[in-house]
Amino acid sequence: MTQSGPLNLREYAALAKTNLSEMAWGYYAGGADDEVTLRENEMAWGRARLHYRILADVAKRSTQTRILGKELSFPVLAAPTAFHRLADDQGEVATARATTAAGTAMILSSLSTVDVEEVTAAATGPILFQLYMYRDRGISRDLLRRVEDAGCQAIVLTVDAPIWGNRESDVRDKFSLPGHMEIRNLLPEGTLSFSSHGGSGLAEFCHEHLDPGLRWEDVEWLRAATKLPIVVKGVCRPDDAIRAVQSGVSAVLVSNHGGRQLDTAPATFDVLPAVCEAVDEKAEVWVDGGIRRGTDVIKAIASGANAVLIGRPILWGLAAQGEAGVADIWSMLHDEFDRAMALCGCASVDQITADLLGPS
Ligand SMILES: Cc1cc2nc3c(=O)[nH]c(=O)nc-3n(C[C@H](O)[C@H](O)[C@H](O)COP(=O)(O)O)c2cc1C
Repeated sequence: MTQSGPLNLREYAALAKTNLSEMAWGYYAGGADDEVTLRENEMAWGRARLHYRILADVAKRSTQTRILGKELSFPVLAAPTAFHRLADDQGEVATARATTAAGTAMILSSLSTVDVEEVTAAATGPILFQLYMYRDRGISRDLLRRVEDAGCQAIVLTVDAPIWGNRESDVRDKFSLPGHMEIRNLLPEGTLSFSSHGGSGLAEFCHEHLDPGLRWEDVEWLRAATKLPIVVKGVCRPDDAIRAVQSGVSAVLVSNHGGRQLDTAPATFDVLPAVCEAVDEKAEVWVDGGIRRGTDVIKAIASGANAVLIGRPILWGLAAQGEAGVADIWSMLHDEFDRAMALCGCASVDQITADLLGPS
């Protein structure tokens, strides 16, 4: 008998597609413009080669690591992605349960379809909160209080979206949320829905509410406005990474928003080594974009990253099989990472070093 279920993260996408409306699939899967960066993100990891060590005694292995001082089962977190209830009725609650049960952490999107309080209550491990900054700083401040009170453990400020990328599938589909779904955290008092006025309803909504005037001073503002550690998400250049470290962030997240903002931005794998060198261990470095295999995770860590994030694969698991599907995504990726570590001759995460990408 052959195995009938998905064997890897990519195979979950095909299953998810059959369960999603055309609009939801287009929103989840799509990238900006010609989707060059979307494709490149995945391909860049695949191009790198792993120069494994031999006879390194990998009989006993640990995939555990610490991120922002928290113990994780392996160095992979759930990236913030919007609108999980488009994939499954339980939405972000299902993702939080499966992710924290797998021993790792979830970054909850500002554009969550479930209240942050419900998500933290359902979780058995760390929930971090992704923040889009409002034109009105008072709203951002109230939202910060709300997520702090809910027990979120860090603020991930997204800085690669001063305005919205041109996602043509959303324009074509006039993307909007179904009437029974709301953005539950965007405003401190709770709910907000949006609809299309001719193009992508989400792009119109964000244009109205989010601040395109964001500057480095706003990172300082955020640092003063919360006691939680701050992660800056969307860095692709060493000079920006250095500036982020000088602004007191705890982690720099190398990301191009999964190819959904500036098309033809470089693949994250290609810029990661230079960013790590610039940060020089003064903060953690995380990376996302196109990570689909345990070997991709090894390549990120070998390049100097402390952790990686996966975005779309979580949504594929959720759309395919709800909480169980997300659990399966975590289990498959963890097993792949453990196997790749063993085959590289690494018994622990700190043995994943730069020479694996080519010994000098
Ligand atoms: C459907 C979808 C929604 C997303 N929503 C957000 C969001 O609300 N906030 C954010 O900072 N990033 C968002 N992202 C970007 C992800 O956090 C992450 O950077 C990206 O998905 C990683 O690439 P991957 O999907 O190839 O793993 C979204 C990505 C997708 C695919």
